[in-house]
Amino acid sequence: ELLPVVIPAAGVGKRMQADRPKQYLSLGGKTLLEQTLAQIAKHPSIGEIILVISPEDEYFGSLKTLDASRVTRVDGGTERVNSVLCGLQALTNKGYQADQWVLVHDAARPCITTADIESLLAIREQAYAGGILAFPVRDTMKQARHNSGPSIDTTVPRELLWHALTPQMFRLGELTQAIEQGLADGHPITDEASAMEHMGHNVKLVNGSPTNIKVTTPSDLDLAAFYLTAMQA
Ligand code: CTP
Ligand code: MG
Repeated sequence: ELLPVVIPAAGVGKRMQADRPKQYLSLGGKTLLEQTLAQIAKHPSIGEIILVISPEDEYFGSLKTLDASRVTRVDGGTERVNSVLCGLQALTNKGYQADQWVLVHDAARPCITTADIESLLAIREQAYAGGILAFPVRDTMKQARHNSGPSIDTTVPRELLWHALTPQMFRLGELTQAIEQGLADGHPITDEASAMEHMGHNVKLVNGSPTNIKVTTPSDLDLAAFYLTAMQA
């Protein structure tokens, strides 16, 4: 059975401070977006790809390596969560059922490996509403007194803290409902799991690779190039 994937790629990449959205910056001879798509598309369990792009985007049209038989472009929204919702709605409109498992993966994470996707897919056999790739926090974690003044209030026990990554995998109907409810409640939704948690669903943390970084700042681009080369070696 092939799973559809939604790839939000409608951001502006403000923190990258480049002349174009970061997904169109060059990485290993292609754009960052094309690298991410290639990594996702090569997993044998991935089927259709819904690519969420800004309606104002000026760069998408010049991409060359897209497989039009698998990739559908959908208009994105103001925040990541709105873009993801547009992608999920497109899947429903295409006839996917509510119980269909769906992956959501950031365009900005090109270093996703087949092995990590495999680990995430494996939880379909278990009693969870879905799961996310993540890895345990390693540094000592400090909580500040104020978000402006950099002085320490306390040290937060890190045993229970994980970094949330993508892909994240849920059932199409439950995830769509959770996001719509979270938006209606004004609940902060920075990833799919946060919407599912808000609904009381049980979400599995799947140990993933810390090299699956989100390219956010200029130095991340060099790091991603390094990891990609290492992956292909
Ligand atoms: N994204 C999206 N729609 C938005 C905002 C973000 O589809 N309205 C996508 C981005 O394109 C990216 C992913 O969500 O692939 C993760 O977001 P982030 O890393 O924050 O990217 P940007 O929002 O583009 O970067 P910044 O926050 O620095 O502006
Ligand atoms: Mg952002």
